[in-house]
Amino acid sequence: MKAAVYRRFGGPDVVRIVEQPKPAPGRGELLVKVQATTVSAADYRARTKDVPKGLKLLSSTTLGFITPRIPVLGMDIAGVIEAAGPDVTRFKPGDEVIAMLGGKFGGHAEYVTVPQDGAVAAKPANLTFEEAAALVFGGITAQAFLGRTSLDPGTSVLVNGASGAVGTAAVQLARIAGAHVTAVCSGPNAGLVRSLGAGTVVDYTTEDFTEASAAYDVIVDCVGNVPFRHLQPLIKPGGALLSVVADLPGVLAAGLRSHRTGIHITAGNVPFTGADLAHIAQLAETGQLRPVIDRSFALTDIAEAHRYVSTGRKRGNVVVQVAGPPAGGGLVD
Ligand SMILES: NC(=O)c1ccc[n+]([C@@H]2O[C@H](COP(=O)([O-])OP(=O)(O)OC[C@H]3O[C@@H](n4cnc5c(N)ncnc54)[C@H](OP(=O)(O)O)[C@@H]3O)[C@@H](O)[C@H]2O)c1
Repeated sequence: MKAAVYRRFGGPDVVRIVEQPKPAPGRGELLVKVQATTVSAADYRARTKDVPKGLKLLSSTTLGFITPRIPVLGMDIAGVIEAAGPDVTRFKPGDEVIAMLGGKFGGHAEYVTVPQDGAVAAKPANLTFEEAAALVFGGITAQAFLGRTSLDPGTSVLVNGASGAVGTAAVQLARIAGAHVTAVCSGPNAGLVRSLGAGTVVDYTTEDFTEASAAYDVIVDCVGNVPFRHLQPLIKPGGALLSVVADLPGVLAAGLRSHRTGIHITAGNVPFTGADLAHIAQLAETGQLRPVIDRSFALTDIAEAHRYVSTGRKRGNVVVQVAGPPAGGGLVD
């Protein structure tokens, strides 16, 4: 099978397409023929080891110290089950699925194995494989973090970094729950986040949201560029801070800060579950949640996809079409 492999850390060109043996599904595993995947912020971080402050050593234990330990990147997939290993009961060959592979990666290949008990769910029937792949990374992350708090009609939510993969999903999930959403992004992305349900948009290039007098029930931070001491006054008593991006000091201090301030802080990694992914898929199938695709690339052009993601400016998701030609660029909004 073809796979996008990287043998050293570095720029987009370290990723090469090579032939590799097709994997075989083990006990309880599905062999999925990948139709589409994305190049995500996690792929960028793994390829470059550009990780939040203090996390280089810890991340190296999984990513590798000198050379990459996991040669095929890609955290998310949409595809078709080709074979099932022994003891698989939940899915069967021919089923169309989406999956979050998480830190195991491996989605940038024609085939990957997925444990049936992992973060895998039926693909929404109304979406193309590209659209379905674009649901996964941001959708499951936003759901996992928002699941740490309760959103009710009238809850006020600020999403910092609202136009990225996680942000576009968080804006929609908060809106679906009836929350009033304030989205922080650059001016050109204001229309996008409004179309997803943001009631208020703050253009961070002209306005500093931390200087406003507003207070929120929940802040979802998908950028990690604002110190806690500046976020704390913006969060109502008993509110929540969901730090999707957090450095090591932020992760270590979360418990103590929660105790001291009464703000419920979730920082760092959260588990990705099949239940969360199924929930995301159901919201997409009923037309409530839509994937945001910035650009699509063929697997053979994956270095270009990495180059684009490296800009830090992608809107939503950058899709890689693994089977067949890409459907072309354009934003689904
Ligand atoms: N903890 C976890 O389990 C977990 C899971 C997934 C992702 N993450 C992390 O979460 C972060 C976000 O992921 P993602 O996939 O959403 O990233 P992404 O799609 O690459 O985010 C790109 C977006 O970031 C926005 N942005 C850049 N600088 C900004 C700023 N100063 N203020 C506001 N927005 C800014 C850009 O908007 P403009 O062009 O408008 O500036 C762009 O739309 C990444 O650091 C990723 O590593 C963590």
